[in-house]
Amino acid sequence: MKVLIVKDYEQMSRIAADIIADIVRRNPSAVLGLATGSTPVGMYKLLSQFVEEKKASFKKVRTVNLDEYVGLGAEHEQSFAHFMRTHLFDSVDVAPNNTHIPNGLADDPQSECDRYHRLLQQLPQDVQVLGLGSNGHIGFNEPDTPFDSTTHTVRLAESTVRDNARFFASREEVPQTAITMGISEIMNARKIIVLASGKNKAQAVKAMVEGEVTPACPASVLQNHADCTVIVDEDAASLLAGNYR
Ligand code: GLP
Repeated sequence: MKVLIVKDYEQMSRIAADIIADIVRRNPSAVLGLATGSTPVGMYKLLSQFVEEKKASFKKVRTVNLDEYVGLGAEHEQSFAHFMRTHLFDSVDVAPNNTHIPNGLADDPQSECDRYHRLLQQLPQDVQVLGLGSNGHIGFNEPDTPFDSTTHTVRLAESTVRDNARFFASREEVPQTAITMGISEIMNARKIIVLASGKNKAQAVKAMVEGEVTPACPASVLQNHADCTVIVDEDAASLLAGNYR
């Protein structure tokens, strides 16, 4: 696990965007595993600029997203599908049918999980971008999710509902369940980059980087990945004991 401690959110976003752009330049049909939440927004903004300035093209890129709320359709403003269109897909030249995300309105969520798992077997990620939940979750793999898990439905932890309520009119409107890529599918990515910014992630970053590898902190499994880079700003790195500079 490589740890890059950077000055601030802007520098974290720029380094991440440069990594993704470099992967796409070297492999124009790369499979990008993408994340939602506030952390990757700066990176998506820069990637959109790179495409606008013809410094990169997503024309042949395929994307697979980590998760989607159960009960929210792709048109719902708080769905992750809508988030991805707003923050990236509508601003780059990616082909919509090359973008993949679990269907939050699937009649049978378990069948949808099985379909998505099969898709991920056909489209293994060249790079998986991850944010980090304040409780150490990755995607929506909450604490105590088995490391060998595949795409599954999850009842969101209270802390996750609380953390994500800011995107909804009220806490009651936050869906209680989601479909998430499993930990084994995340670990199957050739390369992983984890982004974390802010003091509220410092405890989770310490557990991810320096803690015991345990399902109690899903992100700790990333210590076992052959090519995982953690990019954190000073605040998110503030509890790290090691010297990573
Ligand atoms: C949600 C998402 C995760 C994301 C996490 C942190 O739980 N499912 O993929 O990493 O929130 O979000 P933020 O970046 O807004 O702190």
